[in-house]
Amino acid sequence: MAKIGTIELGDFPLLLAPMEDVSDPPFRAVCKDNGADLMYTEFISSEGLIRDAMKSRQKLDIFDYERPIGIQIFGGDEEALAMSARIIEATNPDILDINFGCPVKKVVCKGAGAGVLKDIDLMVRLTDAVVKATKLPVTVKTRLGWDDDTRNIEEVAERLQDVGIQALSIHGRTRVQMYKGDADWSLIAKVKNNPRIHIPIFGNGDIDSPQKAVEYKNRYGVDGVMIGRAAIGYPWVFREIKHYIKTGELLPPPTLNERIDACRKHLLGSMQWKGQKLGVLEMRRHYANYLKGLSHIKEYRMRLVTTESPDEIESILEELRTNYQPQAVSA
Ligand SMILES: Cc1cc2nc3c(=O)[nH]c(=O)nc-3n(C[C@H](O)[C@H](O)[C@H](O)COP(=O)(O)O)c2cc1C
Repeated sequence: MAKIGTIELGDFPLLLAPMEDVSDPPFRAVCKDNGADLMYTEFISSEGLIRDAMKSRQKLDIFDYERPIGIQIFGGDEEALAMSARIIEATNPDILDINFGCPVKKVVCKGAGAGVLKDIDLMVRLTDAVVKATKLPVTVKTRLGWDDDTRNIEEVAERLQDVGIQALSIHGRTRVQMYKGDADWSLIAKVKNNPRIHIPIFGNGDIDSPQKAVEYKNRYGVDGVMIGRAAIGYPWVFREIKHYIKTGELLPPPTLNERIDACRKHLLGSMQWKGQKLGVLEMRRHYANYLKGLSHIKEYRMRLVTTESPDEIESILEELRTNYQPQAVSA
């Protein structure tokens, strides 16, 4: 049983990865429907929160049906991180996560995200400052190291555990790798098998099917897996993995109705949360994913991404539901 503080996550929890501009409440809602056991918000700048930047504040929106939910922050300054931890605590999430893995230049240059991977002492100080500033359980998400010569995750895990983090998610790549190559889980397994480590270790990187999740579970012994890209437009990945773990059998792919229902829920959530205009616009990049695998879908997709009218989108989706009903969905 994996536990973070007093939060029980079940035997082999599936975590939804924090993803900027993706892991927002409308997307999280469809992932939760399909079995995500623990979800994280997209990362939030500690400096932005302190400046009261609207965009950062909006990312703090969490809802009771999402629990357990973690809010993720990043920053390169102890005081700013501690202060933002207190702001976050006031919004009452279940977990506070620190991002030490983001490879994006604008973040790394400020000494935050994966930039901290070059300076473990700083990483430990930043984490310590956050743990001391809040009563929330603090977790960390990071990468193997900065580059091939500094794959220091084993030392990092021990030292972060020593200052009080309660779980660690490891993306099996270095900063220099960005998203290239395959994630290397062997070092993640080493961290997990270190007898000094007693906090849950979650593996992350490239999980995109039930078979892979189970293979990695068995081979690397992690306490759970975190899934990012494979859930975009395919939240069913969570239920498929769960079912496969439980029964050893593969679920059939989602039906057309399920695809349309998820799409519609995501759209309505987006409009509610972001406002109609922005909600409709930002939903455009999701249709292709939700409808992936359906043949002759191009015309529908074009219509969905060119109208600004929510009513028209709804009627296109309904038309799709009716006209497509008899056709098979290939995954
Ligand atoms: C669009 C996108 C945005 C991301 N934003 C974040 C973020 O805000 N915080 C973070 O810790 N990782 C972020 N990541 C990294 C993911 O959480 C995850 O570590 C990475 O995608 C590898 O997992 P996957 O192979 O399952 O996608 C992002 C990844 C993607 C693709």
